[in-house]
Formats: sequence, structure tokens, C-alpha cells
Amino acid sequence: MTLTQIKELAAKLAPRLIEIRRHFHSHPELSGQEHQTAAYVAGVLSSCGLHVQEEVGKTGVVGELKGAGGENRVLAIRTDMDALPITERTGLEYTSLQSGVMHACGHDVHTAVGLGTAMVLSQLETPLPGTVRFLFQPAEEISQGATWMVADGVMAGVSAILSVHVFPTIPGGKVGIRHGALTAAADDLEIIIIGESGHGARPHEAVDAIWIAAQVISSLQGAIARTLNPLHPAVLTIGQITGGRAPNVIADEVKMRGTVRSLHPDTHARLPGWIEGIVARVCDSYGARYQVNYQRGVPSVQNDPYLTDLLAEAAREALGGDAITILTEPSLGAEDFSVYLEKAPGSMFRLGVGRKDLPNYPLHHPQFQVDESAIITGVVTLAHAAYKYWQTLPQK
Ligand code: NI
Repeated sequence: MTLTQIKELAAKLAPRLIEIRRHFHSHPELSGQEHQTAAYVAGVLSSCGLHVQEEVGKTGVVGELKGAGGENRVLAIRTDMDALPITERTGLEYTSLQSGVMHACGHDVHTAVGLGTAMVLSQLETPLPGTVRFLFQPAEEISQGATWMVADGVMAGVSAILSVHVFPTIPGGKVGIRHGALTAAADDLEIIIIGESGHGARPHEAVDAIWIAAQVISSLQGAIARTLNPLHPAVLTIGQITGGRAPNVIADEVKMRGTVRSLHPDTHARLPGWIEGIVARVCDSYGARYQVNYQRGVPSVQNDPYLTDLLAEAAREALGGDAITILTEPSLGAEDFSVYLEKAPGSMFRLGVGRKDLPNYPLHHPQFQVDESAIITGVVTLAHAAYKYWQTLPQK
């Protein structure tokens, strides 16, 4: 009965939610600057009777829908609000009014889904027994927002957390579910090779930092294949390299910067020491000095088995079995939802936004567009999952 009600409420809200999403789309704000978006979100949540806190995690918003009682556990639902420094080229009538800023990762859809879920759950005839805490986080694109939110205590009392991300390769109306690893751990790497300058004609009197840097890159890429467990994927990309002063001068310093992605926690833990060991051995062999700066980014999103089943079941009941795609592969992209998962188990699903009438532009593309019916797909899935969470939760 509640599912019927959830679907009816969501259907009724559809035009309003599309309007809200279009408002966010034409007023995108960069990471950490989501002031207008946050104020808008807070206004909608307040009008639904939620207890609202602003400026949580800098520019984040938290809305709490109090339960009817009988449960002191809290279910969190997290969505993100920030846009990207991309110049939109969709030609939509509600295109970005902020030049050079675009909702090209669908966070406008996420925010609308979060608000829609709050609207639906706050209007149920029989309120949920426990509290649902809606987290509208800033700065996901710079992998900071979740850390800011957690530092402000948003996970206090939370027993489970759910989230959603749009996915253009899944058609609108469908959702993608994945057990286990969904996204990769992403770390930043900087390697500095320090040699000794000299005349380009007299290499024996110098230590060539450029040649040694080339050996370091080759050794790292080879060692990934030969010394790490091939069933635990890791990708290391050196995306930036600078060094040298003139064509006939042997370089005394090379700086390389890159990103390191991994899925398995064991490999993730091993990577900094593993990289430094390889750099040290190569540099020692040829008389260079080095510095390795390894900066931990966000961990891998590991979806909890119980909550992933709950999401799958909720989606199956609300949307029908055909609407579910079981994802067989994780992504080596990163997502700071993993920061919340250090505090409580959770699961994130993929929301299909693919359209048949358009080429499937990927996320972060200036022509990225979505199937807006996905907003209701997301709302119904999350609202029903929240309802089922309290129904099926093992008694304490
Ligand atoms: Ni995103």
C-alpha cells in the first residue's frame, strides 16, 4: 500500500521536480560555492516540514525527517550539489546562465532526486518509524565535500546510508545495481627526480634526470603487471611531466604528477611503499636522488551486501524486474561517497539517464544531457528503499 502511495506522490511531483532540476541546471555553482543551491534546497526542505541545518560541511545542507518513533536508528540519504568548470554546449532552453560552469555530472538531477524523496517521504500517510537524514553535500567534484560533512558530524547515529549517481550508458527508467566495489580509490602522486646538470655532449659527467625519469615510468608500469596481484587492478597514470632547461643541457630535475587508482583495500594500502621502493631502486642504480609525495585521495566505494540487496529489491518492486541492470564491472572513477562508508555501511546505485534520441555523451562532456524521467525513477527507488529499510531491519 505504501509503495502505491509513494508512486502516486512521485508521479504528482514530477512536473515540479523537473522544474527544480532545470532551475539548478541553469544556475550551476562550482565546488564549495553552492550558496544559492543550498539556500534553495533548504527552502524546499523547510516547506516539507523537515528540520533543516545550513552551512554544514561549509556549503552543505542537512534536512532531518523525524520518525514516528520506535526506532532510534537513522537512515541517511546523500546527494551532491556542485557543478563543473565546463562551458555548456547543449543548446537547451534552460542552459547554464553561469558562463564556464555546467552541471555536466548530473548533480542537478541528484539534488532534485534528494528533494523529491524528502517530499514523498514527508507526505506518507503512515510516517516511517525512524529518522531519515538527507545530506546535500557540496564539493564532490573536488573530493572534499564528504570529508567536510563528516567532520561536521552528519554521520552521528547513522546506521546506514544510501546514494545515487546518474549513468548515461544505462537508459532512462532503469537503474544499475552493483555489489561490492563500485568505484576506485584515487590517490595523487608526485615524483621528483634530482640528477646533476651537465653538457649534453658529456653524459658521463652528469646524472640525467630525464633519462632516469623514463626508467622510473617504465619500471612502474612494468611492475604493476609483474608484482601486483592481477586480480586486484591498479592503474597508475603519469599525466604531467616537466624538466630540463635547454636541448643541449642535461636536466638536473624532473617533476612528474599522476593519479593512482585501485579497487582492493590490500593493494590500496600497499601502493605508497611499493611506488617509493621502485623509484628508490631505479634512482639508486643511476646515482639520482628523489622525492615521492603520495597523497591519499578518496577510498574505493564498497557497497554493503545487505543494503545493496535492499536497493535492488526496492527497485524491482517499484519499477519492475526489467528495470534493473546488475553491473558486472566497477568503475575506476572515484566518488567521495566512500568517506561516509568509513562511518556506516551503505550502497550507491547508478541511475540510468541515457536517451535514445541523442548520442550518449559521457559525464563531464559539454553536451551531456539526461532523460529527466530518471528523476522519478530515482525518487521512487530511494523512497521505497527507505520504507523497506525500516520494514526489514533486523530487530536490535
Ligand atoms: Ni558526479
